Amino acid sequence: MTYSRIAGTGRYLPERVLTNRELETMVDTTEEWIRTRTGIERRHVAADTQGTSDLAEQAARQAMEAAGVTAADIDFLVVGTTTPDLVFPNVGCLVQRRLGIHGCPAFSLEAACSGFIYALSMADRFIASGSARCALVIGAETLSRIVDWNDRATCVLFGDGAGAVVLKPADEPGILSCHLGADGHYGDLLYHPYGTSRPQRPGDLERPYVQMKGNEVFKVAVKTLEGIVDETLAANHLERSAINWLIPHQANIRIIQATAKRLDMPMERVVLTLQDHGNTSAASVPMALDVAVRDGRVKRGDLLLLEAFGGGLTWGSALVRF
Ligand code: COA
Repeated sequence: MTYSRIAGTGRYLPERVLTNRELETMVDTTEEWIRTRTGIERRHVAADTQGTSDLAEQAARQAMEAAGVTAADIDFLVVGTTTPDLVFPNVGCLVQRRLGIHGCPAFSLEAACSGFIYALSMADRFIASGSARCALVIGAETLSRIVDWNDRATCVLFGDGAGAVVLKPADEPGILSCHLGADGHYGDLLYHPYGTSRPQRPGDLERPYVQMKGNEVFKVAVKTLEGIVDETLAANHLERSAINWLIPHQANIRIIQATAKRLDMPMERVVLTLQDHGNTSAASVPMALDVAVRDGRVKRGDLLLLEAFGGGLTWGSALVRF
């Protein structure tokens, strides 16, 4: 039986930092409101010259270096993103070209903030089935491009960034299980109205930005994440205490605290990075993982619970023996 394991991690944040204080000069908000209601202190914003694939490329290079692999080794490339550079070529192909990788499948998938977990699950299946031997899995976003910078209810929440992992085959399970879910009936709680195919609804063209019913998203997120934590533990016959680190989607500190409580886990065992970059959607889980790997908190052999929740609505978790 072949399994997949995470062989290396990487991340990239654009240079430009936008603090809560700066946001006070842009919309009717306060540094304290943002920090206490969300846990966010600053976010990064991509330069005008940078697209999602530029951020993804940098994170990928770091992950490949950490894993000790070269472009010639990669035989599967997937990018979770909601903010592709173009309709096509997809971000996977753009990154593939930049990295000098030829011939392997390369694609992006949109599952909003759950995009990385969805992508990880695909790559894991390809490796476990023997269809791939070295997968590059990226979560990358430039949400600053689709946020209304005049809307205090949303613009304070989001930021840009990218995270990546390299998956390789192993005899022992690295990815123990992935659990994915979605419920399109909640689509109107969190969406972006612009697309390419269907006639826009009245008013959509005037507001091509993220639309969110924050309060309702919050409630569904807490409930859904509690459910997926229970599902993941039950599927692996594990007690809550078996988890060494919770690596959650970084959207709101209060949502993360609720999930940690469900796991009976002190916040010291939760990797928190949202204070530094806000909600970076599909990029947030791999970035948080990379932070904790590089600062030495996450060690080989640790059991990690990765989880995410986002527009769609979509959600997912991955239980990982690092
Ligand atoms: N600064 C100051 N006040 C703000 C504000 C801001 N940036 N944004 C909203 N407010 C105001 C509201 O207008 C409201 O004012 P009112 O009481 O006079 O009507 C008040 O703050 C409370 O708003 P509410 O939406 O009830 O706050 P909240 O405690 O639910 O926090 C969110 C708002 C958005 C932080 C919270 O609902 C949230 O994080 N939801 C989940 C969003 C999310 O994670 N989305 C992505 C999922 S992947």
